[in-house]
Amino acid sequence: MKQELEKLEHEALKALERVDGLEKAKQLRARYLGRKGAVTKCLRDISTVPPDERPSIGRLANEVKTRIEAAFGKATEAFETDRVRPEGRLDVTLPGRPLGRGRLHPITQIAYDISEIFLRLGFEIAEGPDVESDYYNFEALNIPKDHPARDMQDTFYISDNTVLRTHTSPIQIRVMEKQPPPVRIIAPGKAYRVDSDVSHTPMFHQIEGLMVGENISLGDLKGILTTFVHQMFDEETSLRFRPSFFPFTEPSAEVDIRCVICRGKGCRVCSHTGWLEVLGAGMVHPAVFEMVNYDTDRYTGFAFGMGVERIAMLKYGIDDIRKFYENDIRFLQQF
Ligand code: DAH
Repeated sequence: MKQELEKLEHEALKALERVDGLEKAKQLRARYLGRKGAVTKCLRDISTVPPDERPSIGRLANEVKTRIEAAFGKATEAFETDRVRPEGRLDVTLPGRPLGRGRLHPITQIAYDISEIFLRLGFEIAEGPDVESDYYNFEALNIPKDHPARDMQDTFYISDNTVLRTHTSPIQIRVMEKQPPPVRIIAPGKAYRVDSDVSHTPMFHQIEGLMVGENISLGDLKGILTTFVHQMFDEETSLRFRPSFFPFTEPSAEVDIRCVICRGKGCRVCSHTGWLEVLGAGMVHPAVFEMVNYDTDRYTGFAFGMGVERIAMLKYGIDDIRKFYENDIRFLQQF
């Protein structure tokens, strides 16, 4: 019986190796471990073994049964897994599927680049709400109700006295209301206007700047903006200040840079002028200081506001602002 048991075990494990499916494995198992199976029969026949050999044969028979059961259990499990994953077993040597790497939107990147330059110059970041009151967006900035200057910005009204801010300038007021001079802040954020074409989207980004203190002059404004342009573009990029009008500054200027495409020779991008407008700026109007109770005899200051999309378009040579917001991954991946 001892030899028979050993033979049965060997035979069963060998046969199991050749089995190629769950059904066949089950049939084979029945042949050894089923009610009429060969191993089961041996266990039943233990009583016929001479009494002195019975304990050792009995132990062996049970061990053989356990080992065959374990082998079948393992094989059955493997076949079950194959059924769930018909392509075959898990191939752990296959290379993994790479995860797409996310990155910042080009407008966010440029806003960070611009902010970093001003942070190095000692400016701090301030923020304000996108949904703004008429007071902060217009009145406190010296743009009274019914004033023609309101026409400069086509406004989304939420209600009579609430708007989607048309520029980041209201943050100037919010900051000055909260703190006495000196002030040295930039305020990046979204702005909204009813406008849509190759160079305008209804939502866009601006970065506002404000510096207030004793003896702040137009020279300081020029120095700060020149440093900014040189760091953002390059040292060769020159600036010009063109007289302009904004209700909240006096004098006011529009600042142009030498065309970064043609270097001033004249091309399509700069409309053959050799210059590109990049921002509005000026010395803070005393009427604005009065709104926030700053002493107009003691303090002066400058302010500026630039469009982030515009800077990004010039920096990367993009001719249609809408590309930033179409969410075409092929466009966005280039930055
Ligand atoms: N807020 C102006 C606009 O959106 C831009 C601007 C011009 C901001 C002059 C300023 C400034 O702070 O001094 O058109």
